[in-house]
Amino acid sequence: MTPRLGRMADIGVIGGSGFYSFLQDARPMQVDTPFGPPSEPPVVGRVGGREVAFLPRHGADHRFPPHRVNYRANLWALRSLGVRQVLGPCAVGSLRPELTPGLFVVPDQLVDRTWGRDHTVYDGYPAPVVHTSPADPYCPAGRATVIAAGNVVPDGTMVVINGPRFSTRAESRWHAAQGWSVVGMTGAPEAAIARELGVCYTSIAVVTDHDAGVATGEGVTQAEVFEVFGRSIERLKSLVRDVIAALPGPDADCSCRHALDGTAAAPEAVR
Ligand code: ADE
Repeated sequence: MTPRLGRMADIGVIGGSGFYSFLQDARPMQVDTPFGPPSEPPVVGRVGGREVAFLPRHGADHRFPPHRVNYRANLWALRSLGVRQVLGPCAVGSLRPELTPGLFVVPDQLVDRTWGRDHTVYDGYPAPVVHTSPADPYCPAGRATVIAAGNVVPDGTMVVINGPRFSTRAESRWHAAQGWSVVGMTGAPEAAIARELGVCYTSIAVVTDHDAGVATGEGVTQAEVFEVFGRSIERLKSLVRDVIAALPGPDADCSCRHALDGTAAAPEAVR
C-alpha cells in the first residue's frame, strides 16, 4: 500500500475555507486512494515555472466540515501525483491581541486537540506498525521560503480544535494562557499525515478574528471568518504564487523526506 509514484506535480496546495480555486488551465486528475476519494479530484497546472496540484480541503462547495475532511485521502492523492511539498493555507482565530485579523502567520508548532479523526495512514494490519515524529511538524525549507517571500508573522503555535463549533470563552482563555498564538480546525491531522508520507508541509494561517477569550462581545461568527478570509484571498494567492516560484526544486533533500528512515514499513514510494 504505497502512493503510486507519478511526476505530474511536485508542489501541492490544499486550499482552505474560501480558497476553492487556484490554477488556470487546470487539468483534473482521477486518483484512487486506499482511504476513499479526496475532497475533490486534484487539478494540476503550472505556476511560477512549477507543476502544481491543487485541492480544496473542504470540497469545491465547502461540503466537508473540518472533522469530516478526508485528510488521508487528500495527502495520499497529492503524493500519488508526485507532490513532495504541500502548502496548507487555513483560517485561524487569534489568541493574542497583537495578532490582528488580516495577518498571515507561519506557525512553527502545533497542538492537536482534535479527536475522532482518521489521523494516520499507518493503521495497522496489513502494514507493519510505523511510528513517525512530528516534533517539528512543519517543513523548515517551506517555512523559510514563506517567511522570505512575504510580510508574515514568522512563528507561532497553532492549536487545532475539533470544531465545527468555535471555542468557549474559557477554552479560548486557556489556549491563550498556554502561550499558544492561533486556533484553527484543520491543521491536524493534516501536518502529521504529510510527515507520515515523507512530504514537506508548510502552514500559512490567515488570521480572521480574535477568538472569544481575547475579544469582548458575543464570540466569533462564521460570517466574520468568511468575510475576512474573502478580503485576504487575493493577497494570499499572490503569496502562494511567490512561494511556489521560490520553493526548493523537487530533487532537493529535506529532513521531512527522512521521516520514514528506520521504520519497519518504509515504502519505497514515500521516501
Ligand atoms: N478559524 C477561524 N477562526 C477560528 C477560531 N476563532 N477558532 C477556530 N477556528 C477558526
